[in-house]
Amino acid sequence: MEDILELEKDILDQIDAASEEKALEDVRIAALGKKGAVSALLKGLGSMDPAERKEWGPKLNGLKTRLTDAIEVRKGDLHRASINKRLETEKIDITLPVRAEAEGRIHPITQVFEEILAIFNDMGFVVEEGPDIEDDFHNFAALNFPEGHPARELHDTFFFEADEVGDQKLLRTHTSPVQIRTMMSQKPPLRIIVPGRTFRCDSDQTHTPMFHQVEGLVIDQETHMGHLKWCLEEFAKAFFEVETIKSRFRPHFFPFTEPSAEMDIGYKRVGDEIHIGEGDDWMEILGCGMVHPNVLRNVGLDPDVYQGFAFGLGVDRLAMLKYGIPDLRDFFASDVRWLQHYGFAPLDMPNLATALSW
Ligand code: DAH
Repeated sequence: MEDILELEKDILDQIDAASEEKALEDVRIAALGKKGAVSALLKGLGSMDPAERKEWGPKLNGLKTRLTDAIEVRKGDLHRASINKRLETEKIDITLPVRAEAEGRIHPITQVFEEILAIFNDMGFVVEEGPDIEDDFHNFAALNFPEGHPARELHDTFFFEADEVGDQKLLRTHTSPVQIRTMMSQKPPLRIIVPGRTFRCDSDQTHTPMFHQVEGLVIDQETHMGHLKWCLEEFAKAFFEVETIKSRFRPHFFPFTEPSAEMDIGYKRVGDEIHIGEGDDWMEILGCGMVHPNVLRNVGLDPDVYQGFAFGLGVDRLAMLKYGIPDLRDFFASDVRWLQHYGFAPLDMPNLATALSW
C-alpha cells in the first residue's frame, strides 16, 4: 500500500515536471504503456486470489484513472502554452505606420478619373464599366451609326480580323457602348458614369492611339436639357475648383443624341496661366445631348415614355488642362522623374468633403 502511494506521488511529480508534450508522453509510457509500472501492477491482479483481487482491483484501477486524468490535464496545459508561445513569437504589428520613404505616385490620369467619379458619385451616379474589345452592334449600330455612314469613318477604328463566321471585333472607339450594355441589362431610372480606355488609329501631339474617356448617361421619364445643363455646369465648377463658370452649349452632331451639343467653358490667359470660368475665350470640354429615340428603340425602351441625356468627355485633355501638362505623349512615357513631378500622393483620395486635388 505504502508503495502504491509512493508510486503515485512519484509519477504525479514527473507529470508536473514535464515541460513539453514529448516529455509528458514519455512519462505516460513509463507508467501506463504496455510495459509501464502501473500496467505491470494491473497484470499482477490475474495471479491474485479473489479476496486479494477484490481489495487491489479498485485501488489499482483508481490509480490508473487518476494518473490518466492528470496526464490529460497537463497535456491540455502544455498545448495551450505552446500555442501562446507561437502567437507571441509569430506576432506581426499591423499598426506600423506607412514607411515614410515610399515614393510611388498616382498618375495624373488616375487622379483625374478619381476626381470625375467623386463629383458624379456625389450627384448619385453609379460607376459602370464595359469591355475594351467590342462588336459593331454595341460600338456603332445600336448607337444609331447607320452602315456606311461617314460618322463611322471619323472614328479611325482598329479592327480585328474576322473570325470563321465573319464576325469582326474592334477596339472600342468611345465609352458610349457601355450606354447600350447598361440599358439592355438594367431598368430605368438609370444614372451611370463610365470610366474607360478607348482606342483610335491616330497619333500626334494631341492624340494617342489609346486614350481615356468618361461617359455619363441618365434615363428617366422626365429628363430634359435643363437637367443636362445643370449637371454639367456643376461638374465643371467642382472639377476646376472654381465658384462660378461661364458656359455655352454649341449645336453639334452625334448620331446617338438629338439635339447634340458641345459644351464650351469660358477662360482667359494671364501670362503663362489659364484662368478657367472667366474671360472671353472659349474652350470645348465635352460632347453631350439628349439620347436619340432610335437608340432608345434599339435597346427596347419606348421613347414616348423614357428620355435621357448623355455626355462624353476626354480625360487626357482635361488632365492636361487642369494640371498644366503640355504634351499628351508624356502621359505614356513611363518617365519616373515626370511622375515624381506631376504625380499625386497615394493616400489622398479625391473627395468633395475635404479636397479634390492636393
Ligand atoms: N462618344 C463621343 C466621342 O467619342 C463622345 C460623346 C458625345 C458621348 C456626346 C456622348 C454624347 O454620350 O452624348 O466622340
